[in-house]
Amino acid sequence: MKNWKRYTITAALPYANGPIHIGHLAGCYLPADIYVRYLRSQKRDTFFVCGSDEHGVPITIKARKEGITPQQVVDKYHNMMNNSFAEFGISFDAYGRTSSKIHHQTASDFFKVMFEKNCFEERETEQYYDENAQQFLADRYITGTCPNCGNEHAYGDQCEKCGTSLSPTDLINPKSVLSGAPPVKKLTKNWFLPLNKLQPKIEKYLEQHSDWKTNVYGQCKSWLQSGDGLQPRSMTRDLDWGIPVPVEGAEGKVLYVWFDAPIGYISNTIEHFGNDSDWQKWWKDADTRLVHFIGKDNIVFHCIIFPAMLMEHGDFITADNVPANEFLNLEGDKLSTSRNWAVWLHEYLEEFPGKQDVLRYTLCANMPETKDNDFTWKDFQTKNNSELVAILGNLVNRVLVLTDKYFEGKVPHAGTCTDLQNFILQQKEKVEKSLEEFRFREALHEVMNIARHGNKLLTEKEPWKLIKTDKDATGIVLYDCLQIIANIALIAEPFLPFTSQKLFTMLNLIDNNLSWKNIGEMEILKSNHQLNKANLLFDKIEDDVIEVQVAKLKRAESNISTALPISTENAVQKIAAAQPEIVFDDFAKIDLRVGTILSAEKIEKADKLLKLTVDLGFETRTIVSGIAQHFKPEDLPGTQVCVVANLAPRKLRGIESKGMILMAEDENGKLIFIVPKEKITNGSEVR
Ligand code: MF3
Ligand code: ZN
Repeated sequence: MKNWKRYTITAALPYANGPIHIGHLAGCYLPADIYVRYLRSQKRDTFFVCGSDEHGVPITIKARKEGITPQQVVDKYHNMMNNSFAEFGISFDAYGRTSSKIHHQTASDFFKVMFEKNCFEERETEQYYDENAQQFLADRYITGTCPNCGNEHAYGDQCEKCGTSLSPTDLINPKSVLSGAPPVKKLTKNWFLPLNKLQPKIEKYLEQHSDWKTNVYGQCKSWLQSGDGLQPRSMTRDLDWGIPVPVEGAEGKVLYVWFDAPIGYISNTIEHFGNDSDWQKWWKDADTRLVHFIGKDNIVFHCIIFPAMLMEHGDFITADNVPANEFLNLEGDKLSTSRNWAVWLHEYLEEFPGKQDVLRYTLCANMPETKDNDFTWKDFQTKNNSELVAILGNLVNRVLVLTDKYFEGKVPHAGTCTDLQNFILQQKEKVEKSLEEFRFREALHEVMNIARHGNKLLTEKEPWKLIKTDKDATGIVLYDCLQIIANIALIAEPFLPFTSQKLFTMLNLIDNNLSWKNIGEMEILKSNHQLNKANLLFDKIEDDVIEVQVAKLKRAESNISTALPISTENAVQKIAAAQPEIVFDDFAKIDLRVGTILSAEKIEKADKLLKLTVDLGFETRTIVSGIAQHFKPEDLPGTQVCVVANLAPRKLRGIESKGMILMAEDENGKLIFIVPKEKITNGSEVR
């Protein structure tokens, strides 16, 4: 392994269009922070940089939704993210933002250097354009019906309902979000990075890094090998929010957000060091190891496009590793900002004050390192109660209380603890190896095994009995356990920094000079050293606390539309634009009937669906309807409804649904049945 002089560690710049949630944390901020704290404890020279990603379409979309300016959006979320990261103990050395002057300058200069070296190809392509708004349209600015699931609010790049990635041409009835007009194609000039030509260079780069995590390396390979290989990609966009393209003839165009954002790592470093040359060694010295922590959706940008930019530019080092994680799910479902299916960090910090480490622990133990993983509140509770409380907290409490009781809180005299020392050294080695290879779950598990070992020692030696016959022997047991705790305070610090601090306080070792190299020493605490009183490290989390969280999650999800502040502009937008004209025959194809709901029941594991039996006069049908969050099943029998009776059957959660119930949806997403004004025979036609 190379002998690195220093480490530049980056964590993906989060978009400043919403708060941080647990998916972000488990994906990259927590692993990056653990790694950095480990490096620092080893006294390796480290710089940890992040910041807010404040350009790109997600920001302008959010601004439109909230009826405020993009700058107001990024100001709000930049501060929010910055604060919650700090409170959660994510120990960035620098946290900047891409709207800063220094970043605009750095990214602009970066582009100019590449431009002057002829790294770009100028090309005219057809892009979607809104003739009413006189603006080019990013894919996100086009909506329409998803060809896959029929969702009428699919975006030009993706349907959020079924997850399919789309291109605007796939949409049925595409419409501009800006004016409702159908988008038209229009020629425009942009600057492309010819990734096709750079492919051999990138292949070579990847070959030199075949040691990357298999999920990362595999995804890179498949990009290189798919179809005709890499394709040129435009580094500029026809948008008005971003960094102006610094060349002639590019008025009204900005840098592609994925061009400017990763340069943010560099500009945030420059900003931190105040533009003297101190920053340079972190980005220009071949002995600096650059490591990018990201989530899996960022792989291509960090493993292919950004390295290609850096190589073409020529002044900078490229990443030595990109330990990307997979995704974290929540209660079995994909995390979703738009559906409000998330645990928000700022809310967690408010509702669980002082419990940062419980979340750090749970997220680390479940980290989606090699495959997607699930966070559940139940598991959060179990991890707290049966691991943090029962193993670590219990060990510390018992040892400190007993030492206080039998030895006035002074560290007793030592025995020979070579076995214990060997055990801890062996654990240390395991933890190091796991961390060096970005296996954080395993590392944490080995840390906890040290605490388990301590508990085993107590159970075997029973100092509370031993004290009656042999005080010296009791002292030796407690001495050993105290050294275990001191070692845990050190080795657990990267994972549980708040707990580690508390331990050092209890051990009366604050302001110590201890670091990683002291792990394995058997006299971190000297005999006769006075300890402080024991404080509870963790307390039990009861069922009701968890139930509140689960209920909140469900509520938040069903209230999502009402939760959004509605500006006037917004309210107008919420009324769907008119659909294109159809002829009578199109309408006549739809067999609309009146029916009566006979029964309604919940479907297991489907929060939104109800299984309805509907009497249509000529037959009784099973219809699965997405109304579970609006109605109680017991309220429905007897309700007359309108049914699309000749819709092709569909299977939903294994149940064949034959037909669809007509509902009106108000601007807040509330559903209301379309019912005949008077009772009428089932099976009556609706026209
Ligand atoms: N904002 C992007 C996201 O959240 C990540 C940007 S990483 C950077 O997916 F390298 F571009 F900064
Ligand atoms: Zn869909």
